[in-house]
Amino acid sequence: MDLVRLIYTSTITEQFDIEDIARILKVARLNNKTLNVTGLLSFNRQFFLQCLEGTRQNVNQIYHKIATDPRHKRPEIIAYQAISKREFDSWNMGYLQNTESLRELFYQHTRSINFDPYKMNEESAKSLLLDIRDEIKRAEAQ
Ligand SMILES: Cc1cc2nc3c(=O)[nH]c(=O)nc-3n(C[C@H](O)[C@H](O)[C@H](O)COP(=O)(O)O)c2cc1C
Repeated sequence: MDLVRLIYTSTITEQFDIEDIARILKVARLNNKTLNVTGLLSFNRQFFLQCLEGTRQNVNQIYHKIATDPRHKRPEIIAYQAISKREFDSWNMGYLQNTESLRELFYQHTRSINFDPYKMNEESAKSLLLDIRDEIKRAEAQ
């Protein structure tokens, strides 16, 4: 099975409401489960950074739906690569609340209080998402 990992970033639009996070997660978890896609969504009030893993066909199908969603704009793919195993296989769509621990991770990874995921490359985005993954696991274990 050809597995891929896609990481993209995007910017919220005026149409986005904070309540949309819950709506997005609900639909994402349902659809992604059907397509056996796993991943992580992070959000910092201005930007999204999301990772999707699954078969190439299914990841592409979901990404094309996401990319035209009016609740965000400027979707930019940071990484798209074939993988031999998933790194984000614990959730159909994991999410870390925008809390101090998330802000701390953004800061650690960019050394700036003005987190700008458009400046990230494949390596830095993946390493940030892996740390977010571990933070969610820590929070879930508590
Ligand atoms: C930042 C963001 C992330 C999203 N992530 C997903 C996702 O992982 N999976 C998904 O199916 N929809 C996701 N969506 C929602 C899709 O854009 C779209 O609304 C949804 O897939 C439509 O589902 P439906 O065709 O079942 O109505 C996301 C939307 C946004 C704005």
